[in-house]
Amino acid sequence: MKILVIGSGGREHTLVWKLKSSPLVRKVYAAPGSAGIGLMAETVDIKADDIEGLARFVQDKNIDLTVVGPELPLTLGIVDYFEEKGLRIFGPSKRAAEIEGSKAFAKEFMRKYHIPTASFRIFNDKTEALDFARTAAYPLFIKASGLAAGKGAIRAENADEATRTIEKVMGDKIFGEAGEQIVIEDCLTGPEVTVMAFTDGKSILPMLSAQDHKQVFDGDKGPNTGGMGAYCPTNIVNGTMMQTIREQILEPVVVGLEKEGRRYKGILYAGLMITQYGPKVIEFNCRFGDPETQAVIPLLKSDLADIFIAIVDGNLSIIEPEWKEGAAVCVIMASAGYPGKAKTGQEITGLRTYRENHAYIFHAGTAKEGSKWLTAGGRVLGVTAVNDDIGSAVKAAYATIENIRFDGAHFRRDIAHQVMR
Ligand code: AMP
Ligand code: GLY
Repeated sequence: MKILVIGSGGREHTLVWKLKSSPLVRKVYAAPGSAGIGLMAETVDIKADDIEGLARFVQDKNIDLTVVGPELPLTLGIVDYFEEKGLRIFGPSKRAAEIEGSKAFAKEFMRKYHIPTASFRIFNDKTEALDFARTAAYPLFIKASGLAAGKGAIRAENADEATRTIEKVMGDKIFGEAGEQIVIEDCLTGPEVTVMAFTDGKSILPMLSAQDHKQVFDGDKGPNTGGMGAYCPTNIVNGTMMQTIREQILEPVVVGLEKEGRRYKGILYAGLMITQYGPKVIEFNCRFGDPETQAVIPLLKSDLADIFIAIVDGNLSIIEPEWKEGAAVCVIMASAGYPGKAKTGQEITGLRTYRENHAYIFHAGTAKEGSKWLTAGGRVLGVTAVNDDIGSAVKAAYATIENIRFDGAHFRRDIAHQVMR
């Protein structure tokens, strides 16, 4: 089978690496891919949102299955377009992907189907939002309803901060169209976890739980990033908690979307807060999380291509995925300046296979110039180590990082601190 993976980040590198190990897979292409992905797949310079270009490429090369990494092509309707042309593709339709594409839709949907989440109000009008902000109880979260690359949620401690944020989002349009509609919601407290599930719209197979580290500095300080590291599994989601998450969240979402004529096929990502009243939804994503995927997928024993095909064919009920014992820890190495403007073009040394540490190096932002590796993005590498337990995986990941150098490199030294304490 020939597979095309759409996307270019560490998540896609992980998917390509895993798919390559499948006996079902003869060839993997990646669009646009990256220099790192180019080590194991044929990359083709077609952008992730060039849906027609991607479909033409798939037809030209007789590709059997397309796997979509990022959310943008999904919310633009790549799955609908491919299916109309009779091309097999893994991911939710445009209407199903709205669970991520519109926070207003997701929140109303959760209200309708009694899925636990923070109480909220939706505003389309700036004056009404400002009126609400004057008399509301704080703290609150103010969120652009549309896609904002993970930066669209802003905490407000008081009415002044809320007013400034509403002005920026709805007045100055710092998130463009994504902020024409906003959600204002109550602040939840508790540990945050990610549960991703495979689903064909009927069966649901949750993956092992993971925790992301969104803030740039140790101790969860500093501005939010795309994610500075992840580990898997967590000790927060035990068997009982996973059952609660399945019954109160995953099943009602899949059943509810089906009722709404939005059958969900693909990866359902639930970003959850485990509050004193139980798990509540912070957000849904319509795709694999990054960096969580870089920690979760290395623990999957089963054939990922087999699972993808079962989902596309609506046969997920026949799959029983197997997971490795032990734990995985992924530490992200970032460029100087990230999450602000990143300094790129720095030479990277020490990129080799670290078998002795059971470590994998997934590329997020690298480029190749002759035989040299250069940094080419904010997040540069994801260094994942798999070991018997979190402690050993943490040690192995950091032992590997010691050998990898580039000017200005920074990374968090406390990934998985939640378990290590
Ligand atoms: P979002 O873009 O909705 O995923 O939000 C980004 C981050 O903001 C989340 O990962 C949480 O850490 C935090 N967050 C968002 N909404 C809330 C909330 N209602 N209560 C507490 N933290 C939140
Ligand atoms: N790690 C958060 C996300 O993938 O959106």
